Amino acid sequence: MKTVQEAIQWRRSIRKFKPDPISDEHLALIIEAARLAPSGTNRQPWRFQVIRDQALQKRLAEEATLNQRHVAEAPVCIVCGSEMLTFVKGHPLAPSGGDYFAAESEDPEALKPFIADAQMYTAVAIEHMALMAASLGIGSCWVQRIRFGAMAKLLGWPRHRVIHALLLLGYPEGDLPPQRRLAKEQILL
Ligand SMILES: Cc1cc2nc3c(=O)[nH]c(=O)nc-3n(C[C@H](O)[C@H](O)[C@H](O)COP(=O)(O)O)c2cc1C
Repeated sequence: MKTVQEAIQWRRSIRKFKPDPISDEHLALIIEAARLAPSGTNRQPWRFQVIRDQALQKRLAEEATLNQRHVAEAPVCIVCGSEMLTFVKGHPLAPSGGDYFAAESEDPEALKPFIADAQMYTAVAIEHMALMAASLGIGSCWVQRIRFGAMAKLLGWPRHRVIHALLLLGYPEGDLPPQRRLAKEQILL
């Protein structure tokens, strides 16, 4: 198993996967990494749907991700979203003490201002999964170029749950792609 530093250095977006499956044990470790992520007010809005069904993935690719082939071909596709009811004051799904930063009602319009926060919290959990996968030698790829309405409809997600991204998982096929990054001097202000 790679250290955090090794996993960060090894990780890149993998778009070509070997057909080898991801074991249930490794998938459980990856989901556990998401579960342990931090979030504002400990709100934990993240919700995940694990798909291991290439016929469904093909439909998602064609109908809701602008035909990104790797969505259809990945051994595992995790739909990553947020339960927006966690942002409703006093709601059973909301954390205790989280009322000062929450919506007055479940009305989708009242919840809209909190989608950016939900997205940030869930993004942290998604990257936890990507790094846990990397530590196990499993490649991943975020996919956010999504037709969100089409995907929610296809998967039957209700309006109070918003989809943010997919995380594809699988063992990399071929050489790892290069990493192009800004220099330290360009990012330190
Ligand atoms: C929020 C987010 C959205 C992304 N959306 C897509 C996507 O829709 N399709 C895709 O193939 N890659 C997507 N990527 C992967 C990026 O293209 C990739 O991270 C970037 O080019 C840097 O390359 P690396 O991950 O290999 O280091 C996304 C990455 C992030 C973090």
